[in-house]
Amino acid sequence: MRFTDDWLNRLKDNSDIVSVLERYIRIEPPRGNKYWACCPFHHEKTPSFLINREEQYYHCFGCQKSGSVITFLMEHQRLAYQEAVETLARWANMELPTTETEEEKREKEKKERALKATKDTARFYYNNLLEPAGAHAINYLFKRGFSEETIRDFALGYSPDYHSLTEYLKKMGHSTETMVYAKLVSQGENGKISDFQARRLVIPIINTKGNVVAFGGRALDEGAKPKYKNSSNTPIFEKRRTVFALNLVKKTKLTEKVDSLIVVEGYMDAISLYQAGIKNVVACMGTALTPEQCREIKRHVNLVYTAFDGDTAGTNATWESLDALTKEGLDVRVISMPNGIKDPDDMVKAHGKKGFLELLDRALPAVEYKIRIVATRHNLKTAEGKGGFVAESASILATLSEVEQEAHLNIINEISAINESTIRNTVKTVASTPKPVRVEKEEKPDYSPEQRKRILASRYILSSYVNQKPFVILKKIEDGFFDYPPHLAVYLSAIKASLQGTRLKIGQLFDIISEHTAEINKIIQAVNLVPQESQEIYYLECLQALKQGAVQKRITQIKEELKSTEDADARLILMEELQSLLPHKPKKSE
Ligand code: UTP
Ligand code: MN
Repeated sequence: MRFTDDWLNRLKDNSDIVSVLERYIRIEPPRGNKYWACCPFHHEKTPSFLINREEQYYHCFGCQKSGSVITFLMEHQRLAYQEAVETLARWANMELPTTETEEEKREKEKKERALKATKDTARFYYNNLLEPAGAHAINYLFKRGFSEETIRDFALGYSPDYHSLTEYLKKMGHSTETMVYAKLVSQGENGKISDFQARRLVIPIINTKGNVVAFGGRALDEGAKPKYKNSSNTPIFEKRRTVFALNLVKKTKLTEKVDSLIVVEGYMDAISLYQAGIKNVVACMGTALTPEQCREIKRHVNLVYTAFDGDTAGTNATWESLDALTKEGLDVRVISMPNGIKDPDDMVKAHGKKGFLELLDRALPAVEYKIRIVATRHNLKTAEGKGGFVAESASILATLSEVEQEAHLNIINEISAINESTIRNTVKTVASTPKPVRVEKEEKPDYSPEQRKRILASRYILSSYVNQKPFVILKKIEDGFFDYPPHLAVYLSAIKASLQGTRLKIGQLFDIISEHTAEINKIIQAVNLVPQESQEIYYLECLQALKQGAVQKRITQIKEELKSTEDADARLILMEELQSLLPHKPKKSE
């Protein structure tokens, strides 16, 4: 159901932010229209969580979380948008609008038809496995050690060719429009449709309501590309909210206690562990976990083990997923595959359920895992390497509570042999972020609002770079983008590092711009303040804005130079450059 803007505005008028938040957190007596509280989203002893009654929003100067009454319920109470709105409506004694527009009704019917067609598709694929046409696929599954029971549990199937599915669906009364809408088929330029998963082993993706909403299809021939073809998003399938096999976990929960989940990378890993009797397993959808997926997981458990592949891609996915899981308040531990074992599927096949469960006992808490990974990235034989390691670890600890910080000092000490009090001080330096407003005034007194915006953008660019976001291409960043000298300094060091075939590590920031600790902290954090799915888009916007700014700056500069030089040749060169920078204009006819 969608709510009209009018209705929502009325709901918000009736849902004062202070009274709503008061239900969950202790708020100090007001000063004017401003209310302060200890932030419910991170650990703190003195309030830095501001609730602005007039503007109806909150902002934490410690962890930078901000939002409205609705986002508060979504984040703090882990409600879905719909649920948050319904809760507020209940408190405000407002009736939910029940009228559905014609448009909404049509959309709903379309979705129902898509669900039905997708379900029939799953049945078609499954039935094929038992037909002669499916012999190849069922052989493959048996060779991989999957049992008939497992095939049934996961409703695995096979697509024999490009046309049988569409014929079947037509016979079942589904229109081409529905098949295309649910992306069950690909449509060629001539309008001809064919099975999207043709000749693949098919794994249905079933949501927690028990509906088949999408498919993953595996090529049967080794080396065939792509190995997996996944349905893209449709009105009935939102990839970033779906967790593979969570439907089975829900089922298991009816009869068994499930207090932790194991998150693996691949469908086959999940299927294999499940078959081995490890039923508390789910898989992500080929990417690092999204905040939405983590929220789904948090609805079921408080403890999560990640068991990703040991390769670089796996390590990167682990790192990103850890942050997302931790942010949802989950206790997270990392399982590492022993040498020579590629993934959980291999592990359980080689060492059985018992062998796999032993890895659980040895899993590292997220923070310790991160510290140990950071350690592998530094040469701990040199003083510089140790310094970098300690600085980078300190920035990991800085986001934690004091108790947790203390608990990890000995690990850093054990790895680096730097004494604990030095490490503790480094953590304190990183953690002490003065309130942003004050910093802005002290550090950047001479900047115009326009320049400040550019500083935010260049900070975000650097943040993406130091956090090793895959979308950063150093070559596309230019020195003209950086107005703020500390940023330019960091950028130049990054270039230098890249020319030397290495990369600038976070720890080095403390050397390059050592007198700007607060700024360092912001650079470290900026990219992670943006939701993961928007990080890249925001990055490109920042890049674009800085590029335009750099062009403007150069234009002004050239105009100045033109004023002050009489030399004809020099003027000609400047004019040409100016022409090339100005937006294209049709020639004047005089
Ligand atoms: P893996 O290649 O590790 O999957 O990719 P796997 O489950 O171990 O595959 P098997 O054992 O060789 O059959 C992990 C996940 O990444 C996504 C899929 O979701 C897969 O389960 N992936 C992988 C793709 O989407 N496309 C690909 O081409 C490969
Ligand atoms: Mn595998």
